[in-house]
Amino acid sequence: MESELTHRNHTTTATQQQSPTLSPRSNPWIPVGNWKAPFVYMAQKQRLVFVLIGIAISAMFFNSFPVTMSSLSQQASRSENIESSSMTRRVLYEAFQEGFRGRSVGGKVALGLKKKSLRIVVTGGAGFVGSHLVDRLIARGDSVIVVDNFFTGRKENLMQHFGNPKFELIRHDVVEPILLEVDQIYHLACPASPVHYKFNPTNVVGTLNMLGLAKRVGARFLLTSTSEVYGDPLQHPQVETYWGNVNPIGVRSCYDEGKRTAETLTMDYHRSLGIEVRIARIFNTYGPRMCIDDGRVVSNFVAQALRKEPMTVYGDGKQTRSFQYVSDLVEGLIRLMEGDYVGPFNLGNPGEFTMLELAEVVQEAIDPNAKIEFRPNTEDDPHKRKPDISKAKQLLGWEPTISLRKGLPLMVNDFRQRIFGNPKTVIVGGGAMA
Ligand SMILES: NC(=O)c1ccc[n+]([C@@H]2O[C@H](COP(=O)([O-])OP(=O)(O)OC[C@H]3O[C@@H](n4cnc5c(N)ncnc54)[C@H](O)[C@@H]3O)[C@@H](O)[C@H]2O)c1
Repeated sequence: MESELTHRNHTTTATQQQSPTLSPRSNPWIPVGNWKAPFVYMAQKQRLVFVLIGIAISAMFFNSFPVTMSSLSQQASRSENIESSSMTRRVLYEAFQEGFRGRSVGGKVALGLKKKSLRIVVTGGAGFVGSHLVDRLIARGDSVIVVDNFFTGRKENLMQHFGNPKFELIRHDVVEPILLEVDQIYHLACPASPVHYKFNPTNVVGTLNMLGLAKRVGARFLLTSTSEVYGDPLQHPQVETYWGNVNPIGVRSCYDEGKRTAETLTMDYHRSLGIEVRIARIFNTYGPRMCIDDGRVVSNFVAQALRKEPMTVYGDGKQTRSFQYVSDLVEGLIRLMEGDYVGPFNLGNPGEFTMLELAEVVQEAIDPNAKIEFRPNTEDDPHKRKPDISKAKQLLGWEPTISLRKGLPLMVNDFRQRIFGNPKTVIVGGGAMA
């Protein structure tokens, strides 16, 4: 009976069938005892070329997606504490996702490939500080998604980026969850001035949602906390290790205690879930794009002096504050995000001014005849505020560079344009005159 091979017109020669040099079990094409045979085999039909291409592809894959067994097992062991098998699966999945995205901060970059630009979400990016931060991130080539509900922010602060494919703006309230694929989260969304924050205490729920997002997508999370966590401080200047003196039930408490809780949540997510976090405690900051008439002292004085209204000083005017120009703060925030330290870090200008001294600087910049009007002080107004920034200097290599006398005129120009519409317009007796 014909074999199947012969049936398909394959002929087997007698020599092949009987050759004693062929191994009956292994590859029949490699003669036994011939050491050159594997090399000859590899050299045939361009097999060597295919093997080399395979090695190159695997090398590129592992360079681009740096999931190491150690990182997987680290994450898995963390999840052991949580003692939940479903959690373990999720952590492993997230670790893989993190590696697969290959964009985690500090991750390996494939040889010969340029470092990828980051995708960053800035909550509250339409506000004063947020919009300056967005300018810097876009300028360095990152893709930025702003999430803002425009409670105190303005689209005008971001119009310079409209049409840029690396910029997106989403109207969204951070008290509702949102899912975005990002590498870093700068969480600024929160009304920062007393007239606004009383009506919108977003700190706790908003922070919780953003930490949830950070956990889900493996992003690094930066919280913009505040010097208000020190309350009316009994220690001066304030060091990060000081726990503060805060009234938990006062009119300012929703802000002070809200930020303190936000810090607590941030550290809990870091400790128990391994989220990469950073905490900045921001001291009074001023500059262009600040909300006019929002009750913050610098914007109040500047707007009043420009409108020829008396500058309102609450109390005796001897309470002190330190004033930081916004570009210094943005530099500090970026260094903190990119650095290796969680914080908290005080970010502020240690130059200390009484309210009366501030009023004098505003008079110098706008109108030497601007008047001052005293009013009773507001509840829980801190007597002194001055950051100790030794930690930021030492670990972030950061310190402010712009003095109040240099920064204030830049803000005045912006306010003048926004109040009068024309920088050359002069105000007389409360009415505008060209
Ligand atoms: N500017 C300062 O002197 C100062 C000092 C300490 C801390 N901070 C902190 O820095 C951050 C930014 O402050 P800022 O001065 O730019 O204030 P801002 O009011 O100008 O900006 C806050 C932004 O957050 C947005 N926002 C508010 N609630 C929101 C919500 N629920 N969902 C989405 N967006 C929301 C606002 O619309 C606004 O665009 C705040 O977290 C603030 O607490 C600022």
